[in-house]
Amino acid sequence: MTTTVLLNTEFKEVPLLHRGKVRDIYDLGGHLLIVATDRISAFDVVLPNGIPLKGQVLNQLSAFWFLTLQEVVDHHLVAVKLEGFPGLPPVLANKLAGRAMIVKKAKPLPVECIVRGYLSGSGWNEYQEKGSISGIDLPAGLLESAKLDAPLFTPSTKAEVGAHDETIDFSTVVEKLGTKLAEEVRSVSLKIYQRANSLAEKRGIIIADTKFEFGLDEEGRLILIDEALTPDSSRFWPRDGYVPGGPQKSFDKQFVRDYLLSIRWDKKPPAPALPEEVIRKTSEKYVEAYTRLTGKVLET
Ligand SMILES: Nc1ncnc2c1ncn2[C@@H]1O[C@H](COP(=O)(O)OP(=O)(O)OP(=O)(O)O)[C@@H](O)[C@H]1O
Ligand SMILES: [Mg+2]
Repeated sequence: MTTTVLLNTEFKEVPLLHRGKVRDIYDLGGHLLIVATDRISAFDVVLPNGIPLKGQVLNQLSAFWFLTLQEVVDHHLVAVKLEGFPGLPPVLANKLAGRAMIVKKAKPLPVECIVRGYLSGSGWNEYQEKGSISGIDLPAGLLESAKLDAPLFTPSTKAEVGAHDETIDFSTVVEKLGTKLAEEVRSVSLKIYQRANSLAEKRGIIIADTKFEFGLDEEGRLILIDEALTPDSSRFWPRDGYVPGGPQKSFDKQFVRDYLLSIRWDKKPPAPALPEEVIRKTSEKYVEAYTRLTGKVLET
């Protein structure tokens, strides 16, 4: 088993298209190479340490969901086996095995498709201020982390670098996408969230909320892109110990958050280094999330 941590990639063989907090994306022409590094962020700041196996978990978990949900929606995944892919130098294929995928290049839609099954995070804040989220009225008196009667589609804008995403209501999505496409992304988002969450809950994990991204492929068909239902794009809670009425423990980042709060870091970069013990336990939680959700052994 390799547990080498990969913090950053700087490949010269293929052009870098985008570097996010966690993923490095390379342009292969008609395809993209999405590399999940072991970077981790907390309170929106990337930490100096990597988490062993986190990249593999993110990559293989997304792949699992794309395939599991493909009866409902097409997706951008083309290959997880990198070796021999045209245009990808073999040395990269080798280095990135297990932590990268090749996807179809799509035209991303300008909305973040958030689905909430539970009331938490920015949804909880908005509910407290307005009694509604994304223009959808909710009953009064709901507790923080309460399960919603039915999952909500609460889209947001895709903010430019440095800015925060802003919640928008459905009519704004219609303005951006047209009625037909707006209705399609709403209904598909709700359907795939429900499927994924009911599978996850059977396996002890609540997917409190999640963010999907969609794009249009060459034929103009709607496909699911980006990452899907990973701990980085979703809020995962352990089902054991779920109690509404306050924030829940995060399945993956709890040790990191607890540590950072214990040292009273001001949440401004640069972030402090994590102790070995916190890194090890966090890595184990990521792998546990993968194993529980998929029932498979992580390929390392
Ligand atoms: N198949 C695809 N075709 C075209 N663009 C894609 C595809 N899949 C994902 N993308 C785009 O790649 C980008 C991925 O960025 P990424 O999530 O790594 O970083 P970020 O959103 O800039 O920052 P953060 O790390 O905070 O999420 C997004 O803009 C997404 O829309
Ligand atoms: Mg992103």
